[in-house]
Amino acid sequence: MVSRRGTRMAGEPPAIAAAHFRCEARPYHPELDPGGYLNLGTAENRLVWDLLEPRLTAPRKLGAADVRYAPLYGGEGLREATAAFLSRTRGVSFAAEDLIVVSGVTAALDIAATALCDPGEAIVVPAPYYGAFDVDLVGRSDARLVPAPLAAATGFRLSAVAIGRAADEARRAGLTVRAIALTSPYNPVGHVYRADELRAVLEVAAERDLDVVVDEIYANSVFGPDPFMGMYGLPGAALPPDRIHTVWGFAKDFGLPGLKVGVLHTVEPRLRAAARELAYFAPVSTDTQALLCSLLADPGWTDAFLATSRRRLAASYAHVTGLLMEHRIDHLPAGAGFSVWTDLRALLPAATHDGEAALWRRLLTSARLSILPGDAFGCAEPGWFRICHTVDPAIVAEGVRRLGSLVGRT
Ligand SMILES: Cc1ncc(COP(=O)(O)O)c(C=O)c1O
Repeated sequence: MVSRRGTRMAGEPPAIAAAHFRCEARPYHPELDPGGYLNLGTAENRLVWDLLEPRLTAPRKLGAADVRYAPLYGGEGLREATAAFLSRTRGVSFAAEDLIVVSGVTAALDIAATALCDPGEAIVVPAPYYGAFDVDLVGRSDARLVPAPLAAATGFRLSAVAIGRAADEARRAGLTVRAIALTSPYNPVGHVYRADELRAVLEVAAERDLDVVVDEIYANSVFGPDPFMGMYGLPGAALPPDRIHTVWGFAKDFGLPGLKVGVLHTVEPRLRAAARELAYFAPVSTDTQALLCSLLADPGWTDAFLATSRRRLAASYAHVTGLLMEHRIDHLPAGAGFSVWTDLRALLPAATHDGEAALWRRLLTSARLSILPGDAFGCAEPGWFRICHTVDPAIVAEGVRRLGSLVGRT
């Protein structure tokens, strides 16, 4: 007999996950399969493999320690190397002691939510938000998300006022609100937040006695003019450092999503102790840890890699936005990440979430193009779609061409 919790988890996989595998099973190829699927739905940086391949495929010595049990919250080697990397790139001191290394940022978010919230307690998320928060912050913790809708009229700019309002309304409705969670830089919109915007969120949290969880997985994938500001160590922060918990990983900035390695950083001793226990269920293989140590051991290589990656991201962004403009498809400016938040409201058969879902299905089945609808990110206003562009430029060009032909016909 499956428990209530098990039954709750046993739903169908989301349609957008099925779309990814449908695209990957029959990918577009200009000569071999020009009618194949285009996957601009999945946020993978496929522009850096040539840089990674020589490092990752070079013969490497594996010692006995690399195949034995290590601390399940990350061996000292990878925690030290990651702390040194974060300290160097952020300009703030991170201690290896405060890092919990687990199998992906997904696991780090799950652990943070589980250790911060009791079942039924709430986490406020500015919306649209990274869609997997629905699973990562909720699935095991049994917490619930309270979206704080950001206004399309402001270009979905982060609003501490909207977050505070959502927290207050949730409390008035009888919920115990424990935390605010956000992505910075902002997935899906691509904003790089200014220090004053981040400080305002910390003030709202401090006024309401909330913790803040910040997913900084795109910290080193900033290509616009505004620099990334880390939440931990932010000058002038109203919230004490032990209430600020950040996550980062190798999936985006290092283009290594399949390795599934993420870290939770917290200086709160009880949260850290709980996270170390929960890490037992999501450890990273010692072999993968050794591989990443060898990458991080060479700061010259990592810095050059990240600089090249950022240049390529900028070029890819310029390419896709140029194509979108040619087809008169509106979108918001982004300064980071792998995607463009695109306004397809004019294409909706009806200005509703059903209308958005109908357009999404039409794109997938008729145009064989996978892009993700705003509903997958909890966007209150129908018609916004996330287009990921960090793949072969020919695929991006064909994707926008197919989208453009639809625009022309509507
Ligand atoms: C904001 C954000 N957090 C976490 C993840 C997943 O990270 P990981 O693959 O390390 O679990 C993603 C991947 O799309 C993401 O965009």
